Amino acid sequence: MEIIIRQDADAASHAAARVVARLVREKPNAVIGLATGSTPLMLYRELVRMHKDDGLDFGEISTFNLDEYVGLEKEHQQSYHSFMWENLFSQINIKPENVHIPDGMAADIPASCAVYEQAVIDAGGIDLQVLGIGSDGHIGFNEPTSSFASRTRIKTLTQQTVADNARFFDGDESKVPPPCITMGIGTIMDARMNLMLAFGEGKADAIAATVEGPVAAIMPASILQHHPSAKVFIDEPAASKLQLADYYRWVYDGKPEWQADA
Ligand code: F6R
Repeated sequence: MEIIIRQDADAASHAAARVVARLVREKPNAVIGLATGSTPLMLYRELVRMHKDDGLDFGEISTFNLDEYVGLEKEHQQSYHSFMWENLFSQINIKPENVHIPDGMAADIPASCAVYEQAVIDAGGIDLQVLGIGSDGHIGFNEPTSSFASRTRIKTLTQQTVADNARFFDGDESKVPPPCITMGIGTIMDARMNLMLAFGEGKADAIAATVEGPVAAIMPASILQHHPSAKVFIDEPAASKLQLADYYRWVYDGKPEWQADA
């Protein structure tokens, strides 16, 4: 795991955006996995800026989102379809047919999950997966004790995640649908690179456990310790409980120029 600690969320997001942009330039038809929530907003804003100012071209890029609530229409303001179109897709030149987001309204959810998994394989696999992390350590909506071998499937949010996400639903926990569809941990681990973002003190415990704790299903993100190419971009508050923070800063600051955005 490479731990990149930046002063604030903006700087960390910009550093992450440079990694995504480098992939888009080097492999114009890359397959990118995407996350929703508060965390990737600055990353997406920076990618939009790079598209508008620098001509970063998403014309042949394909995307697969991590998750979606079950029972929310695509048009619902809090669906992850709405989130992605509002915050990224409508502002870049991605082709709608290259966008994939689990369908929370599918009549046959297990069948639609199998189709989603197959679509990832047919696309050639995910080159780079963007991840946030739940305060309980979830990645995608793979809540604690999810199998490390899991594939896209239906899951139930923990009460902690329902409480965390109520802020998007007028602060009303009863409006947060507990069932969701999520890519599995096995699917995430198949991505060629994983790029995790985490900001704020509320993520400090989960980040410390993910990076420096034991690999355990109770802390799903800890499986990234087994990934050959996982980068964790965090701000100072999210880094505040890391034992080796000084080491990670020293390594990153000493990276040679040619490795800088790799
Ligand atoms: C959302 C997702 C989740 C979020 C996590 C953090 O697509 O995959 O794992 O990344 O719940 O959410 P925020 O960023 O809102 O703190």
